[in-house]
Amino acid sequence: MIMKLENLLAKMTLEQKLAQISQCNAVYLHVGASDDVTGPEQELSLKKEEVVAVGSTLNYSGAKEMISIQKEHLHNDPNQIPLLFMMDVIHGYRTVYPIPLALGASFDTALVEECCEMASEEMVLGGVHVTFAPMVDLVRDPRWGRCMETTGEDTYLNCEMARAMVRGFQKSGKAAACVKHFAAYGQAEAGRDYNTTDISERTLRDFYLPAYQAAIDEGAEMVMTSFNILNGIPSSGNKWLVKELLRDEWGFDKIVISDYNAFREMHIHGYCATEKDCAEKAIQATTDIEMMSACYLQQIPTLIAEGKVSEKQIDEAVLRVLRLKEKLGLLDNPYLYADEEQEMSVCLCEKHREIARRAAEKSAVLLKNENVLPFDKNKAKRIAVIGPFADKTMLGQWHCHGREEDGLGVFSAVKRMLPNAEVFFAQGCDEKINATDCEPISEAVELAKKCDDVILCVGEDTYMSGEGMSRAELRLSKAQQTLIREVVKANQNTVVVLFCGRPLVLTDIIDDIPALVLAWQPGTEGGNALANLLFGNVNFSGKLSMTFPRSEGQIPIYYNSYRTGRPFEAPYGSWYQDMPNAPLYPFGYGLSYTSFAISKPEISADTMKIGESLTVSVDVRNTGDRSGETVVQLYICDDYASLVRPVKELKAYQKIGLKPNESKKVSFEITEEMLKFWTANGKFEAEIGSFTVWISDSSNVKDGVKFSLIN
Ligand code: GLC
Repeated sequence: MIMKLENLLAKMTLEQKLAQISQCNAVYLHVGASDDVTGPEQELSLKKEEVVAVGSTLNYSGAKEMISIQKEHLHNDPNQIPLLFMMDVIHGYRTVYPIPLALGASFDTALVEECCEMASEEMVLGGVHVTFAPMVDLVRDPRWGRCMETTGEDTYLNCEMARAMVRGFQKSGKAAACVKHFAAYGQAEAGRDYNTTDISERTLRDFYLPAYQAAIDEGAEMVMTSFNILNGIPSSGNKWLVKELLRDEWGFDKIVISDYNAFREMHIHGYCATEKDCAEKAIQATTDIEMMSACYLQQIPTLIAEGKVSEKQIDEAVLRVLRLKEKLGLLDNPYLYADEEQEMSVCLCEKHREIARRAAEKSAVLLKNENVLPFDKNKAKRIAVIGPFADKTMLGQWHCHGREEDGLGVFSAVKRMLPNAEVFFAQGCDEKINATDCEPISEAVELAKKCDDVILCVGEDTYMSGEGMSRAELRLSKAQQTLIREVVKANQNTVVVLFCGRPLVLTDIIDDIPALVLAWQPGTEGGNALANLLFGNVNFSGKLSMTFPRSEGQIPIYYNSYRTGRPFEAPYGSWYQDMPNAPLYPFGYGLSYTSFAISKPEISADTMKIGESLTVSVDVRNTGDRSGETVVQLYICDDYASLVRPVKELKAYQKIGLKPNESKKVSFEITEEMLKFWTANGKFEAEIGSFTVWISDSSNVKDGVKFSLIN
């Protein structure tokens, strides 16, 4: 096959090669055939002939359009090289499952893999070849809108989820995953999207880089560079990041694609004085495909003529693109699996809905429950479902082709599940994050008074988090807080269901809330999932994938921080005068309708030789009266090291189910690999010395045991 590609390359002109490494939005490919190319391309100074010449395209409406675009493209391309079709299938193509931050909270990699496999099955029928997922940017700042797209603040959990997502998307061999955004986009200063990231190499390597590497080790076919500057250099033109680290050190020899117009943004950042510089820096960094701008198309010929870039460099980039087209089978069949009829029948089928529903059930987190839940479905006669999101299908910003009308809101789902109950709806207040007044509140309060059970649906709407949706303040709107207080006053048998794409600050209102369920943005089947959870058909098992701060003033706040030399909350200690250091809810926390007891850990030995391993075990018992699942979490601290280590780090977890009064021995193997970090020697290794181990059902750990790593 390589000969075939080399032969193909030999036939191509420079312009045709540059087309292969350029990508524009599909909507302009149709328009490109006529004169009036308007919209972003115009601002990006793409000429009509450039728009139709690209080698790949993104974001279009499915099989029918894909086939039409591909036909039109092949008609214009003398080399008959099909387009690669790419799309943001982040948490579902048409059947939308919970946002990735929620999937992280499921701590269920098998389920996450199943979700991605389902999405992949739907998307290939829609003509998608590459999904711009998984997004694995570690995040410690809930002001950043794209928290929703990550699996949270923990490196180990993000690595596990990244691997599961790549497996799911690529398992069929019919599609490719593109891991993004390389690198450390989630460390945006002040939580403001697209803002600066400035990180020491050790922090990068210990926390921010492993999940990208995990996705690549799992076989991700593509990497997308990020918008941000990383230590002063925009990622798309960052030679250390892409050429030296990703390619030379990690051995990644597949496609690197820029983010949307990120080449030209290197000019805006103040890194490249001209678009020619943008093209030169990008190709020297070995970023292959330019998304939604034309620096390569318009500037590379000059750079080659000036001897600043060689055509061989272009050939290497083009070959990486052709290899993926060939690997996916595109060169043999330009339409692959695109099938409009199949797409319609498979999308939203019951099997896919069941997967999405199970994911929503397993990722919801029960944060508080003062004898309110579960509601008794046999007794519930009159149920009030109140709030701005009481009957909305909460999909999440990256819902691809998902539609609100594909699903049910909580109100409709409860009505359908309990046909004999009287279920009432009240809007309660406006949904905007800064809404102050809530006109219809009296209607909501009166309704609450006359009902048995009350479900209050508040938080953020789908578009209030996601790309470009950072927030400086994370509290519920005054209107929503008023609504909660007044409704709870009217009826204590109230649960607040919180929809959000990021941790919010609930400190002002939490004492007024008798029961609190974190639903995240649960997707197409979210309403049905919540009905099952609230009425006890299913038990909660989710655990927080991100810390919930007590205040914006604590941010960045995350569980695996460093101890400091004054770890005490008093004058001259590392503290705040006006509030505790502790968050409102910690990473790894979540309640259940039952309770679990975890014994003190037993360790197989108190020393471990380099290259050997230890076993640590606990007994877990279900001490309540309902079956349930919990996530047993293993945390380790390297007590003293050449570079100070976090007070604890998640190194493994097991999600287990137990019947009432059932107990199970849960064991973990402690390996040298778990103890490695980027040491003062500038390499990834474990150091001899003492370690502390905890096993817990959240990052609030106690009863640690010690062991020593010895030579
Ligand atoms: C966006 C996002 C990126 C996405 C791309 C294509 O700006 O940053 O995550 O994949 O453009 O839609």
